[in-house]
Amino acid sequence: MKKVILDVDTGIDDALGILLAVKSGQLDIQAITTVCGNVSLEQATLNTCKILDLLDRPDIPVYQGAEAPLIRKGLHEHHIHGEDGIGGALSKVIPPVSATEGFAPDIIIDTIMTHPGEVTLICTGPLTNLALALLKCPEMTDRLDQVIFMGGVIHGCGNITPVAEYNMYADPEAARIVFHAGFKQLVQVGLDVTRKALLTAEHIARLTDPAIRDYVAESTAAYTKRYEERNGVKACALHDPLAVGVALDSGLVETTLLYVDVETSSRLCDGQTVGDVQNRLNHSSNMDVCEQVNSEAFLELFIQVLNKE
Ligand code: RIB
Ligand code: CA
Repeated sequence: MKKVILDVDTGIDDALGILLAVKSGQLDIQAITTVCGNVSLEQATLNTCKILDLLDRPDIPVYQGAEAPLIRKGLHEHHIHGEDGIGGALSKVIPPVSATEGFAPDIIIDTIMTHPGEVTLICTGPLTNLALALLKCPEMTDRLDQVIFMGGVIHGCGNITPVAEYNMYADPEAARIVFHAGFKQLVQVGLDVTRKALLTAEHIARLTDPAIRDYVAESTAAYTKRYEERNGVKACALHDPLAVGVALDSGLVETTLLYVDVETSSRLCDGQTVGDVQNRLNHSSNMDVCEQVNSEAFLELFIQVLNKE
């Protein structure tokens, strides 16, 4: 089993990513770490604990991390993820377990240094926790097998500004630290591919576990409505679940090795991830950028895994 840490800002799609990771049975989840992003750190942590309660997995430890970006103010997305962050689902649930004592960046460092070369970090929120871990222990880059992050966009437009994707825009300084840390394997799962991973009502109808199906339907209902208003398609983009999907089956995507940097000091383009496609800067590549995705195969995987007993 692949050892993984999930770093999340549990919002609607982070929660679906946690469902996929846990129910896959292929990932040895060492910890789930939470970060300020879609919602506050506290809310993201509560939502994560609710999802683990839904999955009956109180054994998976949750650790809280940064309650704000490195230098900027937190930018929550309640108009997308709802007041509670998971579309109002599980609103009456009081999870029996809460976060375990420990600061997420320290847990990330300890886990990686204890299991050198064995851990994959899957980040589906702003990269603040990973950046803090790197600032404290830069040598961890040699010990981490792989980092897969949902964030950025290379060829398409942004989803929070005309050019920036939310996770990068929320903490571009953190992203810049991660991009330049020298990881052996840094995989970008950006909007170029996640916008093609669209969950529809037909997919949800194929879920066989009533509790899971009801949760997925309820948590994505408002998100789907807004998605249709903005994009004309009645669907929920599975941004974060696709990052988990890539950890489960890298064959789902086609990648290109690129040098990618992120803007941190622009009035108009902060958070933009810029891929040097023509190698004009003559820098060596720093990440595998996902450019194509087998969306059908990913949605089938998503449904099959969520239908596992
Ligand atoms: O841009 C999409 C990303 O921003 C997803 O991780 C979503 O949860 C939000 O954090
Ligand atoms: Ca997220």
